[in-house]
Amino acid sequence: MDAFAFNPFDEATRRDPYALYARARREHPVYAHEGLPVFSVFRYADVQAVLKDPGTWSSAFPPPPPMTASDMLPSMLVSDPPAHTRLRALVNQAFTPRRVRELEPRMVAIAHQLLDAALERRRVDLVEALTYPLPVMVIAEMIGVPIEDREQFKIWSDEAVASLGVVFFQAPSEELVATLRRTVAEMRAYSVRLAEERRAHPRDDLLSGLVAAELEGSRLSGDELVAMLILLLVAGNETTTTLIGNAVLELLAHPEALARLRAEPGLLPGAVDEVLRYSSPIQMDPRRSTRPVELLGQRIAAEQFVLCWLGAANRDETVFAAPDAFDITRANNRHLAFGFGPHYCLGAPLASLEAEVALRVLLVRTRSFHRTGDEPLPLHPSLVFRSVTRLPVELVAA
Ligand code: HEM
Repeated sequence: MDAFAFNPFDEATRRDPYALYARARREHPVYAHEGLPVFSVFRYADVQAVLKDPGTWSSAFPPPPPMTASDMLPSMLVSDPPAHTRLRALVNQAFTPRRVRELEPRMVAIAHQLLDAALERRRVDLVEALTYPLPVMVIAEMIGVPIEDREQFKIWSDEAVASLGVVFFQAPSEELVATLRRTVAEMRAYSVRLAEERRAHPRDDLLSGLVAAELEGSRLSGDELVAMLILLLVAGNETTTTLIGNAVLELLAHPEALARLRAEPGLLPGAVDEVLRYSSPIQMDPRRSTRPVELLGQRIAAEQFVLCWLGAANRDETVFAAPDAFDITRANNRHLAFGFGPHYCLGAPLASLEAEVALRVLLVRTRSFHRTGDEPLPLHPSLVFRSVTRLPVELVAA
């Protein structure tokens, strides 16, 4: 009897999905979720094939009732070419490699400042002390939003992220919809005010760049600008917090890798890539079928959701040697943690640099660090993320 079932809401699965992923890759590479218009794909090649074909596999999702079209912002993340191509080209004018590079000294300074405070306390929740504030301070600085508002961002970001994933399996509750509507209205009011300010008084920041960006005579509309700001604020926070937290967890679980990194900090960029592969912050990237299609012999009708399990693709044995080994010196690490194809993560270089800086400063400032207590850590509520929301540690100063 085939007892295979993949329930991504199951707590034990969410803590450690990898054995199930392996079996799914072998036996159920295209898995139909019973009674739902939802399929999951797990193999590297299939995830890649879906993500690179936006004509067949759309990123634009109809609003789940009771939400309506007026609840949806024209966000790049949930649009398809050619609308997506235009938005991405406009944001590329402002979100440049130079702007990312120039932020590094500020990242280093912020990381030191956060560790000064953490080391004074010794026993801290590392999420609260480092992994959450660093990305939000960096993105606030890059966009040009006042840092005093970052507590407000956390509230907005948490509210916006809480609903991710759930909507593929159940209609959102009235309560969730009400919260989302209020969050978007508040973020919209805030972003409009800020954009107007920059239009009048441009500075050398991302927001001024977005306001000025122009492509063949077309600029971002007011709503598009708001959607872009919200996307940048939300997409870059929880994800990078998760990456740094998962990196610390993996280094604690692999003391030999930690010792090696302390001795050879030049290995940090490769170590960050290995964390992205081995403990992918975003586990699942959804698409919608635009027409009937066959995937590995499985017929999929139009208007079905296909969930691409990045976390499973990144352990695919046909692509990665010894995929279940955490190897910070892994060569040719072609992980899909930042997605693939036209929606490949805009912030990938920024996120990788932030994680490198956070780890480098943590290693320099501490002689050692270890977890206090061995209780299971609380998991992030969204299906999309695999991360812990608290990470109590004791830090021993260098
Ligand atoms: C470890 C950190 C991060 C991870 C794991 C991550 C992951 C991803 C993934 C998987 C996608 C593809 C979504 C799709 O296929 O629909 C994506 C898209 C995106 N990411 Fe990231 N991201 C991270 C950090 C950031 C940061 C720091 C920013 C910006 C400040 C950012 C901005 C974006 C944006 C704007 C998109 C949409 C791109 C598009 O639709 O063309 N991300 N990210």
